[in-house]
Amino acid sequence: MIHLAQTGSTNDDAKRMAADGVAEGTIVWADRQTAGRGRRGRRWESPSGNLYCSLILHPDAPIGRVGQLGFAAALAIAETAVSLLPEGTSVACKWPNDVLINNRKTAGLLLESAARGDGATEWLVLGVGVNVASHPADADVEFPATSLAAQGARTDVETVLDLFLRHFWRWYKTWRDDGFPLVREAWLARAAGLGQPIRVRLESRTLDGTFGGLDEDGALLLHTAGSAALDPLRITAGDVFFPAETARVG
Ligand code: BTN
Repeated sequence: MIHLAQTGSTNDDAKRMAADGVAEGTIVWADRQTAGRGRRGRRWESPSGNLYCSLILHPDAPIGRVGQLGFAAALAIAETAVSLLPEGTSVACKWPNDVLINNRKTAGLLLESAARGDGATEWLVLGVGVNVASHPADADVEFPATSLAAQGARTDVETVLDLFLRHFWRWYKTWRDDGFPLVREAWLARAAGLGQPIRVRLESRTLDGTFGGLDEDGALLLHTAGSAALDPLRITAGDVFFPAETARVG
C-alpha cells in the first residue's frame, strides 16, 4: 500500500507502476487528488475526506474479460456501504460500475488496462472513488450524487478502504477460480433498473429500451422497439439514465 497525502490521479500513478512491473495487489491511495479522472473524460472532484485508490492487478485472463472485475469491485463497494448504512437503506449497482445510495451516485470506478500482443492482460488498474464525507452539488454533476455520511453512515476513509478490500479480494478470488457467473449473478441481484425502461447514451447516439440484464461478458442487454425479444442489443460502453433523469439527455 502506497499512501500519499496528495497526487494528481492515483490511476496515473498506478498505471506508471504497473507498466514498470509492480506486483499484483499493490495499492495507491491518496487523501486527495488534484487531477482526479472519471469515466468518459470527466473530472472527479477529489477533496480530502473521501476514498481515492487504485489497485494494480495482473489477471491471468484475456484483455476482453477483465472488465468483468469492475462488477466485482462495484459489488464490494455496495457490500461495504450496506454494512455501514442504517438498516434498510437502498444500495444498488448501476451499469457499468457505479454504486447508488437512495438512487444517488456514491461511488465510481475507472478501469484502465494494457494487453500483450497475444491478447493476454499485461496489467489492470482498478481506480476506486467513494464519496465518504462529501459529494458534489447537483448543479456540478450530470448524475445526482450523495455520500456515505449524508446517508447516515458514521465512518471514515480507513474503515471504508479496509472493508472494500476485504470484500473485493473475496470477489476477485471467486472470479479467478470460478469465472464471471457468480459475480454476474450477485451484481444482477443488486442492479438498479433491471427490467425497467432506461435511456443509454452512446458516443454518437442515444437509445431507449428496457434493461434486460448483462451478457456473459458484462455488456448491458437493451431490448429496444427495433430489437427482437430474444435478440437484445449488446452495449459495451455508455451512460445509463433512468426515467426520472431522462429529461436531461432528451
Ligand atoms: C466514474 O464514475 O466516472 C469513475 C470515477 C473514478 C474515480 C477514481 S478516484 C481514484 C482513481 N483515480 C482517478 O483519477 N480516478 C479514479
